[in-house]
Amino acid sequence: MTVTLITGANKGIGRETARQLVALGHDVWIGSRDPARGAAAAAEVGARSVQLDVTDDDSVRAALATIAAAGTGLDVVVHNAGVLTTDLDGPAALRSFDTNAVGIVRVTEAALPLLRASAAPNVVTVSSSAGSFWAVTNPERAEYGLPLALYSASKAAATMLTLQYAKAHPGIRFNAVEPGPTATDMTAAFGIGRSAADSARVVVALATTGPDGLTGTLTDEAGPLPW
Ligand SMILES: NC(=O)c1ccc[n+]([C@@H]2O[C@H](COP(=O)([O-])OP(=O)(O)OC[C@H]3O[C@@H](n4cnc5c(N)ncnc54)[C@H](OP(=O)(O)O)[C@@H]3O)[C@@H](O)[C@H]2O)c1
Repeated sequence: MTVTLITGANKGIGRETARQLVALGHDVWIGSRDPARGAAAAAEVGARSVQLDVTDDDSVRAALATIAAAGTGLDVVVHNAGVLTTDLDGPAALRSFDTNAVGIVRVTEAALPLLRASAAPNVVTVSSSAGSFWAVTNPERAEYGLPLALYSASKAAATMLTLQYAKAHPGIRFNAVEPGPTATDMTAAFGIGRSAADSARVVVALATTGPDGLTGTLTDEAGPLPW
């Protein structure tokens, strides 16, 4: 059985990704910084839960140790945890980069020993086209008008980290995904987006492609995007 860890999966796109992967037969670990919210989501979708705060090295190490101790391995990691702020100051910048970019390094480094032991390791970063230099400099694209400096910059870093991991580990697939504008708590102030279930399908498509699938891309539901 394919074993999958999804960070920040207690709600939103992460929880819907968990629900769909469980339905496809994955053994899913819901990572949640709040254990009670994680347990509730896991019970709802038929997954397991593990406390995991992507900004906390000890929490990340303990979460991966819990998964290792379960003895069922780990095949797929979905870096889904993320924050969006319109604030623009030092603390907001540190929090944005810590969660959206550094968290990917923490979780990937802790997961690599298990991923290397998998027959079909696959890592998906839920990034954003708001972090695409091509999109934010293209007046035809909605991202051109988005005043989200810290979100865009930290997602650009998330995408670059994913690309660098893909180059460093040719035996493991690493792709960044733009799931599409989605109505979640993150975007509630903007009143935009489709259902989390619709966007989760884009994440699930990348998380379930075989070993010959794409690696080192930023992809949306139509295929790879320019950087
Ligand atoms: N919504 C969109 O239109 C859209 C578009 C493009 C990309 N994305 C990306 O999709 C991903 C999911 O976002 P969403 O829209 O589903 O938003 P959401 O409903 O706000 O979910 C965000 C998730 O991240 C978790 N999280 C935040 N900080 C964390 C931390 N330090 N450690 C662990 N988990 C943490 C949250 O946990 P708590 O409940 O504890 O806060 C929550 O489970 C994000 O990476 C986002 O940037 C979203």
